[in-house]
Amino acid sequence: MDYITLNDENRLPAFGLGTWGLRGESCADTVAKAIGLGYQLIDTARMYGNEKDVGRGIRLSKVRRERLFVTSKVCSPYTSYQAAKRIVEESLDALGLEYIDLYLIHEPYGTSPEMYEALKEAKKQGLIRSIGISNFNEAEYLDFIKGCGIIPAVNQVENHVYFLRSDLQKMMKAHGTVMQGWAPFTEGMRPVFKEKILKDIGKRHGKTAGQIALKYLLQNGVPTITKSSHVERLKENLDIFDFSLTAEEIKEIHGLDEGKSLFGWY
Ligand SMILES: NC(=O)c1ccc[n+]([C@@H]2O[C@H](COP(=O)([O-])OP(=O)(O)OC[C@H]3O[C@@H](n4cnc5c(N)ncnc54)[C@H](OP(=O)(O)O)[C@@H]3O)[C@@H](O)[C@H]2O)c1
Repeated sequence: MDYITLNDENRLPAFGLGTWGLRGESCADTVAKAIGLGYQLIDTARMYGNEKDVGRGIRLSKVRRERLFVTSKVCSPYTSYQAAKRIVEESLDALGLEYIDLYLIHEPYGTSPEMYEALKEAKKQGLIRSIGISNFNEAEYLDFIKGCGIIPAVNQVENHVYFLRSDLQKMMKAHGTVMQGWAPFTEGMRPVFKEKILKDIGKRHGKTAGQIALKYLLQNGVPTITKSSHVERLKENLDIFDFSLTAEEIKEIHGLDEGKSLFGWY
């Protein structure tokens, strides 16, 4: 596993398991199996309705808490200071954890600054280790950091080979925020696994197109998370730390960037 040091000195695993769409026993089972395979970062959110299941999976894995990095997020309708404060406690309770490694504001809201105040307090109390935001574009990010006090450690945004967002990444890096990507496989909206460039490069390294796509993002300096409920795929996705792409290969893949969101979020 590779790690990225955040602006508060905490270490973010470069790759992790997303849990959007996972629920109930199969969620707990997937989380436990992924941790057993070596996943350290587990990404959940209040919105996913699965924090209890994720917590159960963590306990099932029997892996020591300090070896894991757990992310959650607060979203609407909990957009006031008081509600965000309560939701952090509810997340901790649901996950069955004493602290959460990274807690994000799920998307920009008019009240993001007061929600962030609640996260800052929880950080001070040791309930959250790192705080950040998600789905903030350039303008929203710049506006937010004007008076935020603590620069967000992370902005988690849509990021894949078709939407690299290099300008956002560079600008946030200059301010001290890491861009973490979601949907590296585009949630199936683009045929990543059949992309010729990725397949051809994969043949040279004995890797699949999916592994090349993930590796590219990591070498591009963007930690990422993907979800799978299949053990073989979980294994495959994690098996990307024993090779490197060449500068020429990176240049080739860069050509896939379409420069626009597939999800219409921005
Ligand atoms: N902050 C935000 O607003 C936000 C938004 C979206 C997502 N996220 C987070 O980011 C995580 C990842 O994004 P995502 O789950 O939406 O999309 P994704 O990772 O791009 O795609 C997941 C899909 O790819 C399939 N898949 C995974 N590995 C595969 C492989 N090796 N071969 C073939 N198919 C494979 C999975 O199917 P199977 O499960 O059937 O294997 C699943 O349908 C989420 O789970 C969530 O935690 C955050």
